[in-house]
Amino acid sequence: METDLNGGMPPRFVDLKQEIASSYPDFEQRATKAWNEILGALEEVTKNIAEGGSESIAQVNFSQLDSLTPSKIEMIKRKGCVVIRDVVDDAEARGWKDALEEFIKSNPDVEGVPADNKQFFQLFWTKSQVLARSGRTPEGVDLSTPLSYADRFRIRRPGIRWDVHPPHVDGGAIERWQDEHFRMCFADILSGDWRAHDPYDLEGRLNARSSLYGRPNQSTVFRTFQGWLALSETAPTQGTLKVFPDVLMSNAYLILRPFFRPRVTEDPKALLDPENWAFDIATPEFPGIFPRDGGFAGPRPTPALHPHLRLEQTMISVPAVKPGDMVFWHCDVIHSVEEEHTGKEDSAVMYIPAVPSTPQNEAYVKRQFDDFVKGVGRPEDVVNLLGRRAMGAPVEVM
Ligand SMILES: [Fe+2]
Repeated sequence: METDLNGGMPPRFVDLKQEIASSYPDFEQRATKAWNEILGALEEVTKNIAEGGSESIAQVNFSQLDSLTPSKIEMIKRKGCVVIRDVVDDAEARGWKDALEEFIKSNPDVEGVPADNKQFFQLFWTKSQVLARSGRTPEGVDLSTPLSYADRFRIRRPGIRWDVHPPHVDGGAIERWQDEHFRMCFADILSGDWRAHDPYDLEGRLNARSSLYGRPNQSTVFRTFQGWLALSETAPTQGTLKVFPDVLMSNAYLILRPFFRPRVTEDPKALLDPENWAFDIATPEFPGIFPRDGGFAGPRPTPALHPHLRLEQTMISVPAVKPGDMVFWHCDVIHSVEEEHTGKEDSAVMYIPAVPSTPQNEAYVKRQFDDFVKGVGRPEDVVNLLGRRAMGAPVEVM
């Protein structure tokens, strides 16, 4: 059954909209002006994204990270996505994949999806994963004190359809509006000054609560970038990651979207016309946010609910990667996994997000370390001091 992405929100969310509206001066007028500007800008931006394709996604070599020009850094920040080549040697990355395959073979009962042909594994602490996180810690882009966050991996077989990762944003659903700290990250958008929005401003993020309802499997750690390390060669159409490569525009649009409703419903072309949208805060719906497990999931933008993103043309596959290359995307970037995998080889990646050192995250990795020593991981697999610190280990114990 299709999930209803626009409906079923409790009536109290009308109050949330009213509260937000009353906390910014001239909200209706300023939000409407901003909304119209954003729709105008998106017309141009989405056209460029669709034309630019995969090659317009920033690619840099790991060894050049220290010498990027300011304009290159600006470009990476605006897109919110970057491919970093050769973080790990090809042979080493391939070796880790072999070790993961071995592990799965000798532990066939591990949790994973799809159940009949597991490809996305609920495994966090295999030797390969521990080595990859602690070995050469990739200090991605603007991060200087990385912590280590245990995440999963996938080995996707060719030919199998994959529809479990449609376009979405991780790390908080209704919390983006409901939690006042999280909402602060988007204050410039809500006040109408959307061009001033800085997705990289850490102030609100540090205290933002991304999980107000304690849903299972929802990450509470603060990641500046999500990321993965390629363990195999994977090109577009071979089951790779897709992104909407403009985090400023997607944030501006997604955050203001709940305050507007279309006046027309049938004609998709008419839906794109700003004239056909009206300010409306009388309904509890936050399009793309939906109830799940006692809390809320999303944002999950769709062409029907978020027509101006033109997702059918603007979800761009990341360029071809080789083993040892990494891909990072800002935690607000809309991303998905290709449904098709037309390649001949497995598409294998290990998820390794960038987790900066903050009080909240330090507490998280300490809890994580306790789980690790409870027998799921082997401390001797963490090979160096930086790696040990990154995973919250008291260095003297190990
Ligand atoms: Fe995701």
